[in-house]
Amino acid sequence: DWTMSAYREEAIAAIRAQVGDEKVICGLSGGVDSSVAAVLIHEAIGDQLTCVFVDHGLLRKGEAEEVVTMFRDHYNMPLIHADEQELFLGALDGQDDPETKRKIIGKLFIDVFQKHAKEVGDAKFLAQGTLYPDVIESVSFSGGPSVTIKSHHNVGGLPEKMGLKLVEPLRELFKDEVRALGVELGLPKSFIGRHPFPGPGLAIRCPGEITRQKLDILREADAVYIDQIRKHGLYDDIWQAFVAILPVRTVGVMGDGRTYDFACALRAVTSVDGMTADYYPFSHEFLGETATRIINEVPGINRVTYDITSKPPGTIEWE
Ligand code: XMP
Repeated sequence: DWTMSAYREEAIAAIRAQVGDEKVICGLSGGVDSSVAAVLIHEAIGDQLTCVFVDHGLLRKGEAEEVVTMFRDHYNMPLIHADEQELFLGALDGQDDPETKRKIIGKLFIDVFQKHAKEVGDAKFLAQGTLYPDVIESVSFSGGPSVTIKSHHNVGGLPEKMGLKLVEPLRELFKDEVRALGVELGLPKSFIGRHPFPGPGLAIRCPGEITRQKLDILREADAVYIDQIRKHGLYDDIWQAFVAILPVRTVGVMGDGRTYDFACALRAVTSVDGMTADYYPFSHEFLGETATRIINEVPGINRVTYDITSKPPGTIEWE
C-alpha cells in the first residue's frame, strides 16, 4: 500500500524530528493502536524507546503473557512489565460509578508511567496510540453539543507536573488505517486483526462494583465467547465482541439443584471507526449454543443475554 508506506516514512521522520536523542516511554496496552505506535516509534528511534506494559488486573485471559512475549522476545524491545494489579484493584474497591472508575484508572496509569519514566532515566516523552476518533470523541459527540460521554483515560493531555511531552503518531488515523500501517510495519496479521480493547479494560465491562470474583468469571466467559466466534469463522466480520458481567444475580436450575449466579451480556458490533455501531445479527443457533457453553463451562454464570443496542443510542462498552 503506497499510501501507508509514504505515511510510514513521513511519520518516522516526524518522530525523529520531535524526539531528537531524548528517551521516550510508551504505554503498551496490547491493543492494536499502542502496538502499532510502539513498532513505528521503535523503527524511528530504536532503543531510545522503552515500553511500559501495565497489568492493572483488568486484562483478558492470557493477555499479559501474550503481549510481553511478543514485544520482548519477538521484537526485542526494551519492555517493563509493571504488575500493578493490587494498586488498581485496591483503588477500585467499592467504586461503582463509571466516570469515577475511569478517572481512578486514568490517574493511576499516569502515576505508574511517572514512576517508570524515572526508572528509564529521564525520559522526556510519552508515546500513545491515540487515534483520530479518540481525539474528537473526547471533545464532542456526533456533531452535537460539546459534552464528555466518557473520559478516555489515554486522551486529554498529561498533568504539567509529569514534565513529559506527548508523541502521538497515529493522531490523524482511523482504525482501518492503523491496521494498514501495522501490516506495512510487518506486525502479524493475527495481531493486527484483533478486536479493539479499551484502556480501562474489563473495568468497563463489569458495570457497578468490581470484585476479583466477578473479573475471574468475566475472563472465563469472555474466552468461551471469543472461542465460539472464532470456531464459527465470524471473528473478522465483527468489529468488537466481548462479554459484560452484570451486577445482578438470578435464579436458575441445573441438574436437580437451584443456582443463584451472575447474569452476563454478550456484545458484538459491526463498525467502521467505533463512532457508530450496529449490533451483530448472530443466528439464534449460534446464540443458543454459546449460552449453553458459557453456562456449562463457567461456574458463577447461570444466565446469558444478548445486547441488541446499536450506537447511538448505546455505546459499545457498557460504561
Ligand atoms: P464506546 O463505548 O465509547 O467505545 O462506544 C468506542 C470505542 O472506544 C473504545 N474505548 C476506549 N478505548 N480507552 C480506549 O483506549 C478508553 O477509555 C475507551 N473507552 C472505550 C471501545 O472499546 C470502542 O472500541
